[in-house]
Amino acid sequence: MPAPGDPHETHFGFHSVSLGEKQSLVDGIFHKVARRYDLMNDLMSAGLHRAWKDVLVTTVNPPKSATPFTLLDVAGGTGDVAFRIVAAGGPGTRATVVDINAEMLAVGRERAAERGIEDVVSFAEGNAEALPFPDRAYDAYTIAFGIRNVPRVEAALAEAYRVLKPGGRFVCLEFSAVDVPALDTLYEMYSFNLIPALGRAVVGDAEPYRYLVESIHRFPKPQRFAEMIRIAGFRRVRWQPLTGGVVAIHSGWRL
Ligand SMILES: C[S@@+](CC[C@H](N)C(=O)[O-])C[C@H]1O[C@@H](n2cnc3c(N)ncnc32)[C@H](O)[C@@H]1O
Repeated sequence: MPAPGDPHETHFGFHSVSLGEKQSLVDGIFHKVARRYDLMNDLMSAGLHRAWKDVLVTTVNPPKSATPFTLLDVAGGTGDVAFRIVAAGGPGTRATVVDINAEMLAVGRERAAERGIEDVVSFAEGNAEALPFPDRAYDAYTIAFGIRNVPRVEAALAEAYRVLKPGGRFVCLEFSAVDVPALDTLYEMYSFNLIPALGRAVVGDAEPYRYLVESIHRFPKPQRFAEMIRIAGFRRVRWQPLTGGVVAIHSGWRL
């Protein structure tokens, strides 16, 4: 455990850990849940994550024509967001899924093969904080339920800016801050009690889902996160709360 005030200190849920420790704890979680990840998403959000991802796809708005359009889906896990964007776009749309966890990527590769879309969606192992891609390469950068897990959020935002082409868009879907009276209490009860219990029932372990809930509470509030996106260089930064603020879509342009 790092000393208080240590510049390398961060949080894993509510516990104070070093930045390196956080990444290996996060990796352990996704290694454990990879095979049942998509099922858990459906159960935990009562299928709502599908509607939220639809709004993400509409925000990215890939061209329907054959115009080339390249997407980088970071912390893309099992490929869900990339598959949706490729399905919404025209024949010129290509996606690369990058994730730090080989287990999640392996599930994604299998799914892409089952769908016969291996030629339009590719998978790469990499860290959001140091992307293995050249500058100014992509038309859009997405990150869904991923940035909260990255130890150095500022480094990930700087990398997002670097790999986007001028005119490219950053779009992030993440849990946010519930801002509807009564819904916030209900949501607290649901998230602190039911989600870990669901985790125990489906994945056989409540701990990864306890981490999930705690990390949501620790993530910067939407205004503060928008400010961090601006500091990374993005312009026309905005956010859209969905489902009373359970999640939000933040976006910005590299101009
Ligand atoms: C909650 S899942 C989201 C998966 C997918 N985007 C979705 O919405 O279904 C979070 C993903 O972030 C990945 N991740 C965590 N830290 C990362 C990092 N530093 N760089 C890249 N991916 C990371 C995990 O391996 C995991 O696959």
